[in-house]
Amino acid sequence: MSGAISTSRANGVATLRLTRPEKRNALDRAMYRALSAALIEGEASSGVAVHVLVGSEGVFTAGNDIADFLAGGGDADRLADILAFVRLLPRLEKPLIAGVDGPAVGIGTTLLMHCDLVYASDRASFSTPFLALGLVPEAASSLLMPLRMGYARAFEMLALGATFSAERMCEAGVVNAVVPVESLEATVAEAARALAAKPPTALAAARRLMRGDVEAVAAHSEAEARVFAERLRSPEAAEAFRAFMEKRAPDFSRAGSG
Ligand code: COA
Repeated sequence: MSGAISTSRANGVATLRLTRPEKRNALDRAMYRALSAALIEGEASSGVAVHVLVGSEGVFTAGNDIADFLAGGGDADRLADILAFVRLLPRLEKPLIAGVDGPAVGIGTTLLMHCDLVYASDRASFSTPFLALGLVPEAASSLLMPLRMGYARAFEMLALGATFSAERMCEAGVVNAVVPVESLEATVAEAARALAAKPPTALAAARRLMRGDVEAVAAHSEAEARVFAERLRSPEAAEAFRAFMEKRAPDFSRAGSG
């Protein structure tokens, strides 16, 4: 499949694996398209009961591909593939399970708010450096993270830019269990198999009842996307992206206002 992901299916479980470790699984447009296509295919297939998302050894994902942002020069059209993925997440009808090893940055952490089960290795870490990049939170995280983790922890992560350990994300109610790295995939697979064996209509109904108002989540995500698109065009974001690619600290005095 084009886009650096691979997919496999077994026993009702569709596993999506990010396969761009040389760029720390940073998500470029082709990867967003491939992820959306795989999820849509799984939703439509009677042979799939559960989606699983994993990274590669030692890294879940470094989040949005910053080179992609920079190449776009703030062009909002470049957000189309990200937005299509982000819009899909709250509307999934089948459970999504994530297995996180290593860093989960940006959307790597915010997408977890749409997962039904999250397992992490003991070396997983979670961060959302949107503000450091002149951006704002996305994927409904500014709604879902305060709800899930409490405002104090969500603000510490989303605004202060704190990195949370797997243990802390477990205490915060985002991660179900922290396991040794060598048992992560087996733990995820066991949970996925157990879910896939449930009566599918009852599972879907229970999940719908638990997930609450999807339209409110979707509307919040759209509001975030409008601000995100504005921020993407800002001098602050342009300076932060350039600094990242040039491996230097950003100098926001170069960015002028905004
Ligand atoms: N976008 C584009 N390229 C990225 C990237 C991203 N988000 N994250 C990492 N890369 C690239 C690096 O530029 C580097 O490329 P190079 O080998 O051509 O120089 C390569 O991936 C390895 O990155 P490096 O930083 O050396 O890896 P690391 O293991 O030391 O650190 C991270 C891993 C994830 C902690 C670190 O790469 C990072 O903080 N990335 C940026 C995260 C970020 O701000 N994401 C955006 C959120 S909106």
